[in-house]
Amino acid sequence: MIKFILNDKEITTAESPGLVLLDFIRYHKNLKGTKIGCREGDCGACTVLVGELIDGELRYRSATSCLMAIGNANNKHIVTIEGINMSGLNPIQQAMSDEGATQCGFCTPGFVMSLAGFCLSDKEATEKNVIASIDGNICRCTGYKSIERAAILVNELLRNRNTQSSEQYAVKNKLLPEYFLNIKERLQNLIANNPITNNKITNNPITNLGGGTDLYVQKHDTMKDAEINFLFDNKKLKGIFIDGNNCFIGASCTVTDLMESKIIEKYFPHFAQYSKLVSSTPIRNIATLAGNFVNASPIGDFTIFFLSLNTQLILSDGTNKREIALRNFYKGYKSIDKKPEEYIEQFYFPLPDEGTKFNFEKVSKRTHLDIASVNTAMQIKIVGDKISGAIISAGGVFAFPKYLENASNYLSGKNISEENILGAIEMAQKEIAPISDARGSEEYKRLLLSQLIKAHFIVLFPDKILANELI
Ligand SMILES: Cc1cc2nc3c(=O)[nH]c(=O)nc-3n(C[C@H](O)[C@H](O)[C@H](O)COP(=O)(O)OP(=O)(O)OC[C@H]3O[C@@H](n4cnc5c(N)ncnc54)[C@H](O)[C@@H]3O)c2cc1C
Ligand code: FES
Ligand code: FES
Repeated sequence: MIKFILNDKEITTAESPGLVLLDFIRYHKNLKGTKIGCREGDCGACTVLVGELIDGELRYRSATSCLMAIGNANNKHIVTIEGINMSGLNPIQQAMSDEGATQCGFCTPGFVMSLAGFCLSDKEATEKNVIASIDGNICRCTGYKSIERAAILVNELLRNRNTQSSEQYAVKNKLLPEYFLNIKERLQNLIANNPITNNKITNNPITNLGGGTDLYVQKHDTMKDAEINFLFDNKKLKGIFIDGNNCFIGASCTVTDLMESKIIEKYFPHFAQYSKLVSSTPIRNIATLAGNFVNASPIGDFTIFFLSLNTQLILSDGTNKREIALRNFYKGYKSIDKKPEEYIEQFYFPLPDEGTKFNFEKVSKRTHLDIASVNTAMQIKIVGDKISGAIISAGGVFAFPKYLENASNYLSGKNISEENILGAIEMAQKEIAPISDARGSEEYKRLLLSQLIKAHFIVLFPDKILANELI
């Protein structure tokens, strides 16, 4: 049985745990305010809020319900547009109306839910942050400026929030209905009476499910009836911590978990900036790192990121564990070194020490909500004036995410100079095999990789390498 709170009602359902939340909401509960647009995570019309207890505290994040299994809603609070109804329009809806931010209205519930999610988050109330919160919502009518103005009005309502809990502030200021104040206690009771049953890992060769942002796009029709290993909420697969000289990350950590981690921020101060080039807020809220690795897309952004950090995966079949370097995990196009009964439990990488620098670059047709034409990361260590080691990875230029071994080795022991950068690029060109497709021709991708390797050096060594001389 799956149990969760849907708006203000407790739900117990024997429906298949693989059923998509959007269909449960609309067809089983007849809540038709949540819209079906693309069913692929792109449009945001189906946005809901997911509240859960994390270390005893209630935390809300937005999610695309078209890609979320009801099994991943177990013991959580799911909020649809109906769940934020007040006696009249709530101030978020009023702001949309006042600014003429709704025309046909199809996208509006999704925008309102993303803004409600911002009101329930502890993000600083700034215009930049509130506008970023609607990065997963698409409108075909308004042209966005009116929606941005509405978002800025919502942001104004949060100005005096200070240190108050976001639910308390939102209720006290009549942004959201009063029942939100009891949700924390109701979830505690729900969890006490509903020990996690979907948290069990079996070693049958069944479908491992993280956030579902790949699986529900690719296998939408079959997931309802699939036998699923629910890994998203498994505590063994969560957490980001340092042990010795390594940073360990639970396989089911989401991109947002990493963006909000103080450890990641300390070692990769630009991580949040890189991540904003990847999908959108509601997708990053549920997309796991293991999902990105196992999906084995040649352009998986976080695969490219972690390849250049010399990442090791810890695989388990529920009984035995083994380790494999991420760079050895890929065997061919969408082919990985993993038995059907294995899942990734954790992964780790050596902490960068002083003198080690890191950069990530991605080029896609659109800056936001688009997959890469070519992406690349570079970690490089300098001792004195010499490169003591470099790891360059690249996506979109080979059948799988590629560790550029020869280009990386070439740089070792050399100094940072235009000649050596061009030498590494020449090596890289010999070890890639891009194909022409919708994201660009073979020649274009070769050119992009060359330029992006130059960009690594221009970004990391501005005192040594001048952009106008190298490019
Ligand atoms: C709108 C949209 C935009 C996107 N944009 C980007 C983008 O810009 N860049 C990018 O890289 N990706 C992007 N993606 C792809 C996707 O979000 C990522 O690949 C994500 O990290 C997948 O994680 P998940 O948890 O949702 O995977 P799932 O769909 O749950 O699983 C994906 C695969 O991993 C397996 N799996 C999951 N967890 C484990 C585990 N612990 N052990 C073993 N196998 C496991 C599953 O069985 C499945 O084969 C986008 C997706 C959408 C829908
Ligand atoms: S229906 Fe488009 S994102 Fe879910
Ligand atoms: S108002 Fe029509 S899609 Fe946004």
